[in-house]
Amino acid sequence: MEYLVERAYAKINIYLDIIDKMDDGYHNLLTIMQLVSLYDTVSLDLNMTKEISLTCEGLDVEPTKNLAYIAAQKFYENLSFEAIGRVDIKITKRIPIAAGLAGGSADAGAVLRGLNWLYGKPYTTKELCEIGLSIGSDVPFCIVGGTHTCRGKGEIGMRTFGIRHYNLLIAKGENKLSTAEQFKKLDKKFNNFKDYKYAEGYAKTLDLFIAGRCSEAFKATKNIFESLYDENSSVAKIKDVMYKNGAYFAMLTGSGPSVVGIFPDGLYAEDAKQALEAINIESYMCMPINTPYEEIDPRIDPWR
Ligand code: C5P
Repeated sequence: MEYLVERAYAKINIYLDIIDKMDDGYHNLLTIMQLVSLYDTVSLDLNMTKEISLTCEGLDVEPTKNLAYIAAQKFYENLSFEAIGRVDIKITKRIPIAAGLAGGSADAGAVLRGLNWLYGKPYTTKELCEIGLSIGSDVPFCIVGGTHTCRGKGEIGMRTFGIRHYNLLIAKGENKLSTAEQFKKLDKKFNNFKDYKYAEGYAKTLDLFIAGRCSEAFKATKNIFESLYDENSSVAKIKDVMYKNGAYFAMLTGSGPSVVGIFPDGLYAEDAKQALEAINIESYMCMPINTPYEEIDPRIDPWR
């Protein structure tokens, strides 16, 4: 097979805290990440040239700066054999960008997974994740998927369970600063994490998700980036609309500005979607995914 289409699912953080700062200035994270059913499609078509190409429907991109392009470059650079051709990548974007949903990382992860499949699995998942981490912190998780704890910059920890069968509504708040700027703000707020008491509620949250007691887990969980958004922010507005329309729980994902609302029923989520639309906020209905990529079939049969 020389052609395939991969689904690249978005991720949410259902717990996110910082342990401390590392010597290279990065933050040592403690997080639980989960896939959701909102996805981009990434098609990979092996060519007979020496060039990687990338086109992206729905987004004006500089191909060589795109994480999916960089992922393909690194895939070929690290191969132990010389591949005959390269790949034409076509992305159809649905995941909103710069939203804290790892859209770019999801595409990069799909390129690495897909190329590894097309070339007969020259890399183990661990090796693929090492390549992924050199591209971006969220990429290793976007390679394995499902629900996992992650530490450090984004190294994969334990497989676990997250939110079960609830309807989710993801809404993007107003534009935010870059992720790097958000981390800098946290540094200032928490004195570079020198005496920071981390992991409050972590073990409890994890236990409750594993036990399937989601509504209690929501009470115990946290996202440290929420402390950067005050009551006048678009994030607070979105949460308010979600709660007024029956959300069990609503929380920021990643460094924001997206908010994930968890609803008991799709009809409540639909009401919230309409109420958000009325104040010009776009939102997306989806479901949580707890199963890792290797146990689902993320490939779409192009001939079907
Ligand atoms: O790895 P990624 O490119 O997503 O990170 C964007 C920026 O966020 C980094 O340049 C760094 O400043 C910050 N970051 C961090 N600690 C992490 C992940 C990201 O400080 N664990």
